[in-house]
Amino acid sequence: MPTLNINGKDTPVNADESTPILWALRDTLGMTGTKFGCGAALCGACTVHLNGAAIRSCVTPISAAVGQKITTIEAVASDRVGKAVQDAWVKHDVAQCGYCQSGQVMSATALLKAKAKPTNADIDAAMAGNICRCGTYVRIRAAIKDAALALA
Ligand code: FES
Ligand code: FES
Repeated sequence: MPTLNINGKDTPVNADESTPILWALRDTLGMTGTKFGCGAALCGACTVHLNGAAIRSCVTPISAAVGQKITTIEAVASDRVGKAVQDAWVKHDVAQCGYCQSGQVMSATALLKAKAKPTNADIDAAMAGNICRCGTYVRIRAAIKDAALALA
């Protein structure tokens, strides 16, 4: 049985190593904060961090994460950057239906960890793979800028 380090905790996962991480999280471990959207790396709903970088968990097998560190939306606020992003999301009332938002928060947090003062182009590039059918993009950009200011 593979063991994954999820949110700082070594966690045995009762699944084959070829199983996408998304199914390990949602189905095997009951961690439903990470969402299933397209299952094909097209929408970003399933975004988690692997060693701090945003990845699409619907197309990343468990085998790619053994011995690495996975962070999910459930623990993002335990990190200074993730907490600032989450606070900015609340302040700007970003979420509409909310379905895409855990993936959005994970991508935004990975961006601000890699680049403390992102330009508009940086934000557009980093967030391009996260689709929001409710169209919350304007509030997402404002919240990312606010989080960057709060962290400065
Ligand atoms: S569910 Fe993974 S990118 Fe859409
Ligand atoms: S808030 Fe509804 S899909 Fe983004």
